Amino acid sequence: MKVARFSKMGFILAAAGSAVGLGNIWKFPYIAGEYGGGAFVLVYLLTVLLIGFSIMIAEMLIGYLGRKDTVTSFEELAPTHKGRWKFAGFQSLAGLFIMIFYSVVIGWIFNYIVTSVTTLPSSVKEAETTFNAMLHTGFKTQLFYHTAAFIWITYVLTKGIKGGIEKMNFILMPALMVILGGMFIYATTLDTFHQAVEFMFYPDWSKINSTAFVVAVGHAFFTLSLGMGAIMTYSASMEKGSNLVKNAFWVVFLDTTIAIVAGLMLFTFLYQYGSGPAKGPGLVFISLPAAFYEMGVLGNIFAVLFFIALAFAGLTSSVSLVEPMVQYFIDRFGWSRLKASISMGTFFWFFGIFAILSNVDGYKEFLTWGSKSFFDWVDYVTAAIMLPLGGLAMAIFVGFAMDKSKVESIMRPQLKWAFDIWYFSLRYITPVAMFVVILSLMGII
Ligand code: PHE
Repeated sequence: MKVARFSKMGFILAAAGSAVGLGNIWKFPYIAGEYGGGAFVLVYLLTVLLIGFSIMIAEMLIGYLGRKDTVTSFEELAPTHKGRWKFAGFQSLAGLFIMIFYSVVIGWIFNYIVTSVTTLPSSVKEAETTFNAMLHTGFKTQLFYHTAAFIWITYVLTKGIKGGIEKMNFILMPALMVILGGMFIYATTLDTFHQAVEFMFYPDWSKINSTAFVVAVGHAFFTLSLGMGAIMTYSASMEKGSNLVKNAFWVVFLDTTIAIVAGLMLFTFLYQYGSGPAKGPGLVFISLPAAFYEMGVLGNIFAVLFFIALAFAGLTSSVSLVEPMVQYFIDRFGWSRLKASISMGTFFWFFGIFAILSNVDGYKEFLTWGSKSFFDWVDYVTAAIMLPLGGLAMAIFVGFAMDKSKVESIMRPQLKWAFDIWYFSLRYITPVAMFVVILSLMGII
């Protein structure tokens, strides 16, 4: 029985809090760098518009109508084959899996908040040494901060939708926007700002290959929190009579704007004070701190604020990654919120330890398969495979399985003429794109 509902603003902030995460500020700039900037950004923006926005509305619709955990919502809304559709609800497991590495990264960020107060690396080389030392030998440090992240996230979950999730987002989201907005305005005053704009928006199509396409689609899902029931679960607590299209618009708009603002700001700093757009996951942990160093004391202040904003973004996403499974155990097994939150938290905390170890010297050999460590595998399998599959399931569910008249009666008044485009996108564009992604992952194309 769920009585606590989000307020209107509370829902938008919570859903945007879910979407705006490490994906926007940590992952997006470095994959954009890796795949050559502009062209990749364009493919990503197109995916967000054509596929992401449609799936966002579909996912909200399932949650809003289902009003339950993801498994129950699929089961109850399916007109036929209820037993089979219920399995689509287990996409929520992806959230718990993502948390295995997500919490570890939040731990790194906590560590960087603390160390940036006094120390910044004086060169990229030194920054690299510091980061690698933490990664490959700093087991205790990583475990300590990973545990801190686990405690924070679990605590918020135990407080529920209103007193935990909504309250946290009401404080952290505006704080994050103020910090990033302020730093962005500062970046626009630097001469290298136009270089960042060029890098992010000037398309060099020779850099786009099928891998870049798959990564862009996977990232569009990841950054919008789609395909694993996070948005669905939050939507189950949306106020009756809410406008799903408006809500979806705000979430997509905030998420995309914040990713672009963060990217432009980071690249400006890297052009101005650092070595230009760096590639790879070390971007914000290696190149950026070294660039901040060049700014003197202001750099320390910026570094601390930046990592605080990054931590806030990560924490608000984390609760949404775990909440679907918490809700599942509450709804299906009658567990108390406390028991469900602590159990789910313990799950990702425990496997997170292996994610840490998979980068630590002396252990990583045992936790690496092929070219990827356990940490990288979890990231890859969730973002590149599970989320697109979850999204595909939702598109087919709303586009084909659910009664069209039911879907239409709610969505046409909200979407008006765009209803047909939306429905077409769910039925054809999304499945085809997902199919291409899956084939390409299997190495067929
Ligand atoms: N959207 C979050 C980010 O960008 C991650 C996330 C994925 C959160 C899926 C919830 C569900 O970091």
